[in-house]
Amino acid sequence: MNKSADYDGPILEIDRLSISFFTRMHEIPAVMDFSTTVMPGEAMGLVGESGCGKSTVALGVMQDLGVNGKIVGGSIKFKGRNLNEMSDEEFRDIRGNEIAMIYQEPMASLNPAMKIGKQLMEVPMIHENVDKDEAYKRALQVVTDVKLPDPERILKSFPHQLSGGQQQRIVIAMALMSKPSLLILDEPTTALDVTVEASIVELVRDLGKKYGTSMLFISHNLGLILETCDRICVMYSESYCRVWCLRLVGHAAIWSGFVVSIPSLNMTPVMTLAR
Ligand SMILES: Nc1ncnc2c1ncn2[C@@H]1O[C@H](COP(=O)(O)OP(=O)(O)OP(=O)(O)O)[C@@H](O)[C@H]1O
Ligand SMILES: [Mg+2]
Repeated sequence: MNKSADYDGPILEIDRLSISFFTRMHEIPAVMDFSTTVMPGEAMGLVGESGCGKSTVALGVMQDLGVNGKIVGGSIKFKGRNLNEMSDEEFRDIRGNEIAMIYQEPMASLNPAMKIGKQLMEVPMIHENVDKDEAYKRALQVVTDVKLPDPERILKSFPHQLSGGQQQRIVIAMALMSKPSLLILDEPTTALDVTVEASIVELVRDLGKKYGTSMLFISHNLGLILETCDRICVMYSESYCRVWCLRLVGHAAIWSGFVVSIPSLNMTPVMTLAR
């Protein structure tokens, strides 16, 4: 059963979030006044130019800002609960179990010295205390779900025996093992070639629907986001961030009653996204 079944408010609510990195002399504002929501079962796209703070938002949600990063304003709520007010122990239980993240570089998320099967089986064995047989069954199921050929052989392989695209499918499988309520994808396909990228995007879209997982999909590729998401947020870096939340209807995006053009789809501009 999906973990969001008992909660019907927004899965993720980011309200006027500001995050800075601190050096000895300076404060570097990375995210300023950013707000968005992700509803149950919804895929929210987050696009924006390089350096505007997309990854920092994701790391903020994962409470993984390193020693010099800090939330300096606003709040992040997961299923109505403020992450900042949770104890480390409470959040540890949520991270990797209820919220999972997929990074750009698949090998960063895989243990090179451990067979794929063991890595996948560890997720439910640690988080849900399930036995080995049940964990193996689930691992086999997710590897089948991410459409890898010969799942039994894949489970016996080490990460380096797989291609980049196959490794990324395993990372997606691993993220889905715990059936998270929220999956954050930070540029999950930029390390892959275009055809593999298209198949991964299709996979993510289908699995999101199958598992009922809400998604925050980060990319600088608007076309990719349009293929996958129900709504998009456009994030700009300037002295402050402007955010447009758009509802996607077919290939048009509606924002406050206006239709916004998407140039890559060759649509007539009714309103352009201008600064
Ligand atoms: N650990 C850090 N220390 C200092 N500054 C940082 C750190 N991480 C990020 N920044 C700064 O925060 C800003 C936002 O960076 P971030 O990585 O979130 O951008 P992004 O939108 O994900 O960019 P890209 O599309 O290139 O991945 C940048 O100006 C970056 O230099
Ligand atoms: Mg980034």
